[in-house]
Amino acid sequence: MSWELLLALVALLAFVVQLLYFLRADGDLTLLWAEWQGRRPEQELTNKVIWVTGASSGIGEELAYQLSKLDVSLVLSARRVHELERVKRKCLENGNLKGKDILVLPLDLKDMSSHEAATKAVVKEFGKIDILVNNSGRSHCSWCLETSMDIYRELIELNYLGTISLTKCVLPHMVKRKQGKIITVTSILGHVSMPVSSAYCASKHALRGFLNSLRIELATYPGIVVSNICPGPVQSNIMKNSLTKDVTTILGHNGDQYRQMVTSRCVWLILISMANDLKEVWIAEQPFLLMLYLCQYMPTWSSWVINKVRKRIENFNNSVGSRTIAALSFVIIFVLVQILYTDDFRIWKKKRD
Ligand SMILES: NC(=O)c1ccc[n+]([C@@H]2O[C@H](COP(=O)([O-])OP(=O)(O)OC[C@H]3O[C@@H](n4cnc5c(N)ncnc54)[C@H](OP(=O)(O)O)[C@@H]3O)[C@@H](O)[C@H]2O)c1
Repeated sequence: MSWELLLALVALLAFVVQLLYFLRADGDLTLLWAEWQGRRPEQELTNKVIWVTGASSGIGEELAYQLSKLDVSLVLSARRVHELERVKRKCLENGNLKGKDILVLPLDLKDMSSHEAATKAVVKEFGKIDILVNNSGRSHCSWCLETSMDIYRELIELNYLGTISLTKCVLPHMVKRKQGKIITVTSILGHVSMPVSSAYCASKHALRGFLNSLRIELATYPGIVVSNICPGPVQSNIMKNSLTKDVTTILGHNGDQYRQMVTSRCVWLILISMANDLKEVWIAEQPFLLMLYLCQYMPTWSSWVINKVRKRIENFNNSVGSRTIAALSFVIIFVLVQILYTDDFRIWKKKRD
């Protein structure tokens, strides 16, 4: 066999290995590299004061549980105090923290006049704020033409303005200490857009723009990290709590979450990102991850794919479970990709769960 042929075979093999690795990936390459070779959360986050908003449910709740296993001080915020107390109890039962290490701090992100006092309460309790995790958020599920303007206002106020307001209250403390981390859970829908989510997509796109600009402004403070976490579909109550076409009605159920990423895996990758000061991470299984890369490098082609998704959603005459339908549509569109790795993927996924 000639050298040229051997080299070509090695290159082909390397390409196939990379492709298979990518098809199994559930995060962007920098994030997965950091998980493999980077700093460990249990070392990097020790002794930190970490304030998690949206800690009463879903991703924020799981963050509280995983953080409670480390040596940290936790502040848990959301509107529902009884849910926060439940999360605190579970943290104390299963984690390494004592009662004095966890502060339950009720907070309505939309009530921006309360953010300064809340920030002062955290500083009074623990003396500092090392990490703010902006995680509170809400979605909606309705076609733009049927969606009331109140939904657009609601989601901009909560997901975008509320997050900015709290960040602006916490930031002066970090600037004074020349260190800190602002971790914000946005979404892959801050990159790509989907039908029946125009208000949500707009709020997350806006938030990402804000964070990217803030990071550049803070370049003179290398000890302050601004991090943008972009998850794809993750098991949580986001669908159940989703608004519909007006602010008075919520969807009320989560639909089938089988295809969505397990919450604990998403949160583990968020901790990896926090420990390694990654500026932006994509946390999504296939085919959503592939979609993100396509949007980045082939915007025209990706918009053709998303249009196919829209057509499939249109075939369903109500909004119930439309997020799930969208997810399934992606799966159908990328059926070839799925065929390539489905069996393998299931074994791998079960092992991880
Ligand atoms: N799950 C996904 O598929 C997914 C994907 C991408 C991004 N995300 C983002 O991840 C974050 C967490 O969502 P999740 O999936 O965990 O949903 P979730 O289970 O519905 O949790 C949402 C959290 O936000 C809090 N919240 C809602 N309105 C609030 C307000 N006005 N003030 C303060 N807190 C408020 C809720 O607590 P209270 O009701 O007690 O206030 C709850 O703790 C959101 O920013 C969401 O956009 C989720």
